[in-house]
Amino acid sequence: MPIIFDKINNVFHIKAKETSYIIKIFKNKYLAHIYWGKNIDYVNLPDEVVTGGRAFGATPDANDKTYTFDAMAMEYPVYGNSDFRAPAFQIELEDGSRICNLVYKSHSIYNGKPKLEGLPATYVENDNEAQTLEIELYDELVNLKVILYYTAYEDYNVITRSVKVINEGTKKIKLLRALSMSVTFDNADFDLLHLWGSWARERMVERVPVIHGLQVIESARGESSHQHNPFIALLSKDATEKSGDVYGFSLVYSGNFASIVEVDQFDTIRVSMGINPFEFTWVLNPNESFQTPEVVMVYSSNGIGDMSRTYHRLYRKRLCRGAYRDKRRPILVNNWEATYFNFNEEKLLSIAKEAADLGIELFVLDDGWFGKRDDDTTSLGDWFVDKRKLPNGLDGLAKKINEMGLKFGLWFEPEMISPESELFKKHPDWCFQVRGRSITQCRNQYVLDISREEVRNEILRMMKEILKTTPIEYIKWDMNRPLTEVWSFDLPPERQKEVFHRYVLGLYKMMDELITEFPHILFEGCSGGGGRFDPGILYFMPQIWTSDDSDAIERLKIQYGTSIVYPAITMGAHVSAVPNHQVGRITPMETRGHVAMSGCFGYELDLNKLSEDEKRIIKEQIAQYKKIWHISQEGDMYRLISPFEKNAASWMFVTTDKKEAFVVYVNILSEPLPPLKRLKLDGLDPNKKYNIEGTDKVYYGSELMNLGLEIPSIFGDFKSFLWVLKEC
Ligand code: DGJ
Repeated sequence: MPIIFDKINNVFHIKAKETSYIIKIFKNKYLAHIYWGKNIDYVNLPDEVVTGGRAFGATPDANDKTYTFDAMAMEYPVYGNSDFRAPAFQIELEDGSRICNLVYKSHSIYNGKPKLEGLPATYVENDNEAQTLEIELYDELVNLKVILYYTAYEDYNVITRSVKVINEGTKKIKLLRALSMSVTFDNADFDLLHLWGSWARERMVERVPVIHGLQVIESARGESSHQHNPFIALLSKDATEKSGDVYGFSLVYSGNFASIVEVDQFDTIRVSMGINPFEFTWVLNPNESFQTPEVVMVYSSNGIGDMSRTYHRLYRKRLCRGAYRDKRRPILVNNWEATYFNFNEEKLLSIAKEAADLGIELFVLDDGWFGKRDDDTTSLGDWFVDKRKLPNGLDGLAKKINEMGLKFGLWFEPEMISPESELFKKHPDWCFQVRGRSITQCRNQYVLDISREEVRNEILRMMKEILKTTPIEYIKWDMNRPLTEVWSFDLPPERQKEVFHRYVLGLYKMMDELITEFPHILFEGCSGGGGRFDPGILYFMPQIWTSDDSDAIERLKIQYGTSIVYPAITMGAHVSAVPNHQVGRITPMETRGHVAMSGCFGYELDLNKLSEDEKRIIKEQIAQYKKIWHISQEGDMYRLISPFEKNAASWMFVTTDKKEAFVVYVNILSEPLPPLKRLKLDGLDPNKKYNIEGTDKVYYGSELMNLGLEIPSIFGDFKSFLWVLKEC
């Protein structure tokens, strides 16, 4: 049984494969954190483990001076009665007081995992896959119930946490802060790993020492953001890709979040994570409840790579859903970088024709097909076809594309409205705005208040009309700006700080309705590229456009950084034209293919402008991807060389039976008389013999992993290799 309650010690022991997570009910009242890390056995746990033996601070109990919350590892800490660190939870009562006293009341342990109301979360297909512990904390004064949920995925080696708050009292309670989890480390010998970035440069890996005081990684943009990802990890100082202690925290949420790391006076670290308390409050009337998003926690004693593979396995199979979860994704061509807004039916069909000849399987029509959208100044919200460009309608175009043997896919940006649009003329009050103030524009557009049901319904109505009349098998859901002037017409003043979260709940409702009604459609998330690459979106859409930077060399860092948490198959990755449209770089077609094949593979360039040689290479790439897709989609990823550290990047994928693998190596700048290079592989079976496809070379796994594979000499910048290995 992964979760045990030890009645003698009043201790919960949550076990997941190689992990132990231990909580104690201290003095029969308070929930204190004891341990999280490599699996352990214990005999008994003295109170000092909880109090740390320091009792000179403010003591909450006048008759017992042996403990202070300020030195304790509280499992779900509150502020205001002797713990002065950043709390996980805070309420405000009608009298203006903000004190809360959460005391253990009861618990239950059961097989399976409950769904989170209105929120995406990891799931089970069978109740035996996981076990859940619910611990009920209670504030007797106001009858407030706080349930802490812990689910142990035994085989995946993962623990998830979330919190539900229920007002069982007779008065209104305002939540000022309701984070999803908090956990304490008993020493500060850690580094903090996080993923920062910007538009077109998402998820750059940064590793810094933890420092005394607070380090906060957050978003206040209304989306998880290009700038910061809802993920952090604590790494032991000696942790590397292949060794050391690593603690990962990944929030299943797509809006404002905060990951808070606090090192205190005793060199202990408190990590908490959840909805960003900045710009958040939530009014709970009697009998109402509030559900926090889920945090997925991974401990590994085998380094960053092992943590990533754990996230990949879980997210591929127990976060992503739908018909395409386990299927090969169609190889697509997207017309955005080929035409931008400047296209007509003839042009699109000529690209589709070439695509069909090359073996591409899906044609995606991007921005510009609706309203009067000749550039980005108009028409968002007018989701009806522009007959000037497509006189036969979407239906006519899609049918012709289908006749060529291709599936048809379409772009939408459902959350947005152009001030220059029919929809805005009809409903000028549907976008976020504050009365009497100007509205901030970003890419000439405003944000629809999709926390409102009528707004959601009208957008969905327009979308569904198209989806019911056109043979659409793929949708790209874009979102091209952050939220500003966040204020909602429907809500009273005391609820205005709920709007950011209500927006996310509205978004999830819209996505849920569409994927439920159109289960055959493959959805790809996008937010000006990778501005909302988070587990919340992956629950609805199994792939996300990773970045608007499609340059193969830029993509090395972007895809490497993204792979710290997210599986390769979730990363939309396209071969685009050279000189590259974002950075002007010229890279070989082979390299662009190798980098794109390391993700969810596709093309995004004008296929009519290809040379015969380029067409030949593309045909080869498509044939190769069809042979190897299962290795990266279903297998494990091993990162070999970091482009953040070296003049090269390399990674490989290995099937779970270790019979097949493929390795990608990209050299960035070429060097004269370069050092002799051997690439040490990983994840193979040391005792199996592998043939390098296309050669007669055979190596033992142990040889490839320790002596390494020789890298041929390289002349010219941005050259790459893709080796396929098969057991022989
Ligand atoms: C941003 C996306 O990331 C691009 O791929 C493209 O769809 C444009 N928006 C269209 O406006």
